[in-house]
Amino acid sequence: MKKRIPLLAGAALLAFALAGCEGPMGPSGPAGATGAAGPTGPAGPAGPAGKDGNSTCVQCHVNDTEMFAREMEYEGSVHFNGGNYAYGNRSGCADCHTHQGFLARLAGGWGAGTAVDDPAPQNCRTCHHIHETYTRADYALRAQDPVDLLRFPGTTVDFGKGNLCASCHQQRDVGTITLGGPDVAITSTHYGTHHSPVAEVMGGLGLFEFPGSQTIAGGPFIHGSSTVGCPTCHMAAGYGNEAGGHTLNMTYEEHGSEVDNTTGCMTSGCHSSMPDGFNQGHIQSQVTNQLDSLAVLLRKLGAMSPAPSTSPIPGTYKADIVAGYINFQTVNEDKSEGVHNPPYITQVLQNTIEAMGALVGG
Ligand code: HEC
Ligand code: HEC
Ligand code: HEC
Ligand code: HEC
Ligand code: HEC
Repeated sequence: MKKRIPLLAGAALLAFALAGCEGPMGPSGPAGATGAAGPTGPAGPAGPAGKDGNSTCVQCHVNDTEMFAREMEYEGSVHFNGGNYAYGNRSGCADCHTHQGFLARLAGGWGAGTAVDDPAPQNCRTCHHIHETYTRADYALRAQDPVDLLRFPGTTVDFGKGNLCASCHQQRDVGTITLGGPDVAITSTHYGTHHSPVAEVMGGLGLFEFPGSQTIAGGPFIHGSSTVGCPTCHMAAGYGNEAGGHTLNMTYEEHGSEVDNTTGCMTSGCHSSMPDGFNQGHIQSQVTNQLDSLAVLLRKLGAMSPAPSTSPIPGTYKADIVAGYINFQTVNEDKSEGVHNPPYITQVLQNTIEAMGALVGG
């Protein structure tokens, strides 16, 4: 009998055979059309306001030479070159001699300046507020209020913008000395009102007023007013990095000789010409002669070292001799040879010479 394969089983076998030898998948069809955009989501919270890049750093750091020229001038100044900030990096000195000490003193009062590891001399940040608000307002001066004097607490002087300068260029204390009073000891060769007693000399105070042929009015001359402050003369248009501007120097060298920078003196409303430089009206010759005469007398009185030194000789003296010495030293260290306050300086020196002359004679 012939074997019969049922029809159903045959179809199943065929399907199996077909499945066992399926070919490679064909290429995918073309992408379908983009669907419609979904609905907009809710707005997120507002972020913090950004800085206006046009109104901060570039108010100063701009492509001109304003800052560069001042840096060059500053580098010609004694503040930058003097070098005494190393020696002055200690209590009692740092208040004026280092940047850090000055800032400490402004915040904490006299004596707050102490030694620091990396002292800096006076620089842009000492006089201006550089990098505090990071706007041009940082060029404001750090100290501009009338200056309450270290040697005369409660007494102030006001030289406008010059108050910044006067806060360091002022006398150190020498204790109480009364004309005709008890003897006074000169304790060392460094005794005295220190190297820059300008604030008091300009303010017309702080020298001993001996009676004599001159009536001493005292007080500031027009040079020491709140409108003619130190910058008027010391920061006038100058001579490169040698005088004026941020050099603060009054003289420069040209063809081997020293020239007075009289630009500030000829500020509108002041002097119209300065034919004799700073020796206007012979003020500097007069004061130099007065100092020479006074030195001769102080040496005769035994209080001053032999020339060319003008240091004091330590010892105990009549109060008037010490007062006479301090007048000499203070005017000498003021270094303007009378210019900072012509009437006060010349009148005080004249009466001091008369008083010392009487002591030598008597
Ligand atoms: C008031 C003007 C002023 C503004 C505003 C100002 N700077 Fe200065 N910047 C200065 C001065 C001045 C110096 C110091 C120059 C020197 O010592 O000779 C300086 C120095 C710098 C220096 C050199 C490093 C240093 O500290 O001496 C950098 C960097 C600098 N500034 C960045 C900035 C940036 C960034 C901004 C804004 C966020 C800014 N400054 C805003 C004035 C300014
Ligand atoms: C933080 C204290 C301080 C301030 C503020 C200051 N000075 Fe000075 N100044 C000094 C000291 C300290 C020296 C001496 C630096 C040295 O020899 O190292 C000096 C030196 C000078 C000299 C050079 C003196 C010389 O023997 O040739 C002049 C000029 C001068 N200062 C003027 C000024 C003027 C003007 C201002 C104000 C715009 C001013 N100073 C602000 C402390 C100060
Ligand atoms: C009240 C501020 C002040 C104090 C405090 C002060 N100095 Fe000065 N000193 C100055 C100034 C301003 C000058 C710059 C005078 C100049 O060159 O015309 C100066 C100048 C000097 C000089 C240079 C003198 C010269 O002829 O070149 C020396 C050194 C010095 N001081 C040492 C000291 C020492 C040390 C102390 C602390 C015992 C001290 N100073 C405290 C303000 C001060
Ligand atoms: C001894 C203090 C002192 C130092 C140090 C000093 N300045 Fe000044 N600066 C002043 C004074 C005071 C004025 C104002 C002068 C005037 O009005 O005549 C001034 C004015 C300026 C001005 C003009 C500001 C304005 O309002 O337009 C600029 C810019 C300036 N200084 C930059 C500098 C830079 C940069 C440095 C450092 C390289 C520097 N200063 C260091 C005292 C100082
Ligand atoms: C009327 C102009 C004028 C004013 C204002 C003025 N000075 Fe002077 N200063 C001079 C002259 C001029 C000299 C002497 C320069 C010379 O003969 O070498 C001088 C000398 C100095 C010296 C000695 C160093 C030097 O450059 O010879 C210092 C320090 C000084 N002045 C500081 C000050 C201070 C601080 C103030 C403000 C409290 C001030 N001056 C205000 C004109 C002025």
